[in-house]
Amino acid sequence: MNTVTQVLSDPNLFRYKEFCFHSMLHTKEHIETLQDFKIKHDDVFLVTYPKSGTIWTQHILSLICSEGYRNGTEETTTDTRIPWLETKSPDIHVDWTKYAEISPRLFTTHLSYSLIPQELKTKKGKVIYVVRNPKDVAASFYHFYNIFVHLKKPANFDEFMERFLAGDVVAGLWFDHVQGWYSHKDEFNVLFLKYEDMIMDLCSIVQKICKFLGRELDETTLNTVVEKASFKNMKMDTRANGEHLPGQFFNENKARFMRKGTIGDWKNLMTVAQSEQFDAIFKEKMKGLPIIFTWDIS
Ligand code: A3P
Repeated sequence: MNTVTQVLSDPNLFRYKEFCFHSMLHTKEHIETLQDFKIKHDDVFLVTYPKSGTIWTQHILSLICSEGYRNGTEETTTDTRIPWLETKSPDIHVDWTKYAEISPRLFTTHLSYSLIPQELKTKKGKVIYVVRNPKDVAASFYHFYNIFVHLKKPANFDEFMERFLAGDVVAGLWFDHVQGWYSHKDEFNVLFLKYEDMIMDLCSIVQKICKFLGRELDETTLNTVVEKASFKNMKMDTRANGEHLPGQFFNENKARFMRKGTIGDWKNLMTVAQSEQFDAIFKEKMKGLPIIFTWDIS
């Protein structure tokens, strides 16, 4: 259970180093080229393990950094405003030449530490890493696996949890991802954020991000960012729900990315025995990590 599965149970995925990629969206060749990706000093990279609040933070960064977005270019998709570094798919269009002229450039990535551009490790550019209680990540991921057409659906949550704890899911093992980034934090200009803190006090987190990015928002703008990034508003936002993505990706029309947006939904899925098993692995794997990586997990 504690070791990463090398043979993946989902034929849609392939493993490269410690990461599991989706063969529809990624190629090994493209991932390898990213090692030499040129970083600009004002680049900002949003890094997450899936289901940790990626799209939420993408929206917040977009609202903070791109005045144009607030002032009428709302139709621009999230993928265009904060493109995925690792994604290379004909279904997701990013005009990279035009994007190269934007300042600051914002990128999103799920990549693990060892796969990200070397230059980022020299404190060039900024990194925002968002972490979420892995039990809620597993619960959210399970629901995602059930609506994303091109993933092998688990028979039930029991099976999914086995796969999650074996790193046999998109992005690989949660514990490795978090440990990899945290243990190399000194190589980056990095801000760690916690999904649960965003839920509890989004305004403070937006202020924290602004400080990290060296941005000042007046009170009205700050309140607008917080309001626009609320779960209620994002749930109604077609772009936040990924509705611009090709229809064949999902087997439902609604409730895609914006599902519940709460803390503790794992309690609706995990049995007491599963929760205890999770806790035991968590304790062993997360030894020595600071308070940001603690949750009321039982
Ligand atoms: P749930 O499935 O638990 O509802 P990601 O973008 O990394 O895939 O993460 C998706 C999770 O973030 C989903 O969790 C989604 O509902 C939650 N989320 C997205 N926007 C949010 C918001 N504005 N407030 C709270 N949670 C949000």
